[in-house]
Amino acid sequence: MSSKRMRLALAATAATAAVFAGAGSAQAVDGPLPIVGGEIAHTSDTPWAIQMSNTNSPDPTGEYCGGTLVAANKVVTAAHCVEGTSTGEWTAIQGRDVLSDATGGKESKISDIWYDPDYGSGAHDVAVVTLTTPFDGVPTLPLNQDTGAGESGATATVYGWGDTEGTGPANTFQKVDVPLMGDEACSSAYGSDYVGAGEVCAGYPDGGKDSCQGDSGGPLVVGGKLVGVVSWGQGCADAGNPGVYSEVSTYYDELSAQIG
Ligand code: ARG
Repeated sequence: MSSKRMRLALAATAATAAVFAGAGSAQAVDGPLPIVGGEIAHTSDTPWAIQMSNTNSPDPTGEYCGGTLVAANKVVTAAHCVEGTSTGEWTAIQGRDVLSDATGGKESKISDIWYDPDYGSGAHDVAVVTLTTPFDGVPTLPLNQDTGAGESGATATVYGWGDTEGTGPANTFQKVDVPLMGDEACSSAYGSDYVGAGEVCAGYPDGGKDSCQGDSGGPLVVGGKLVGVVSWGQGCADAGNPGVYSEVSTYYDELSAQIG
C-alpha cells in the first residue's frame, strides 16, 4: 500500500472516529476541528451542498461525507466515501444546516453508486450517486471544465459539516475560503503522494483554515463552479500541509457521462 493510500484509509477511519469522539475527546483524533477556521454557513445560500449521511457513521446524526448536487438526481462525492458501501446505508440530505435538527430540509435515499474505476492508484477520488427521490427545483452547481481554473491562485470556498477541531460547532454547516496553491507547492508538501494531473490543493502556508474529516466528498467552489472535491490531507489546517481536492476538470468527461 502506498503511503497515500494508507493515509486515505486512515483518514476514513479518523473521519468516523472524529465525529464519534465529540468535543470532549476531539484531541484524541488527528488534527483540528470540522471545516477548520471557518464560519457558519447556510444551505439556503448554497442549496447544492449535500450532506451524505450514512447509517454506519458513529455520529448519531449520521454525519459522514459531503457532496454536491449537479443534477436533480445526481450528487458528486468522493470515491473514498462510497467505496465498499451499499446504497441502503446512505441518505442524501439537502437544506439542513444543523444535522441534529432532523426536521429541516429534504432527504433522499440513493439507488446507485458509481465511482472512478481507477480509484486506488492515486487521485481519481470522485464518485456520482443517484438519488431515489430527485431534489426537483433545487439549484445545481455546474462542474468546472476549465483545466486552468484549479491552478490560478484564486480563492476557493469549501463547505461541509465535518470536523472543526473545536473552531466551531459540531455537525453544523460551515464554509471557509482557501487560496488555490498550485501543483508545485503541493508537490513540495506531499511529494509523489500528490498527483498534479488529477488533484488541486488549497490552503495557507501557515495553515489555520482547511477542510477536515467528515468534509470529504464536499464542494470546493470557484466562480460558481465545482472545481474540487474534498479528498485528503495530512492532519487539518496544519502549516505546510494543505488540503488536497480531486480536480473536477480532469474528470469532467467521465463525471458528465454519469450525470447524463
Ligand atoms: N479524508 C477526509 C474525510 O474523509 C477529508 C480530509 C480533508 N483533509 C484536509 N486536511 N483538507 O472526510
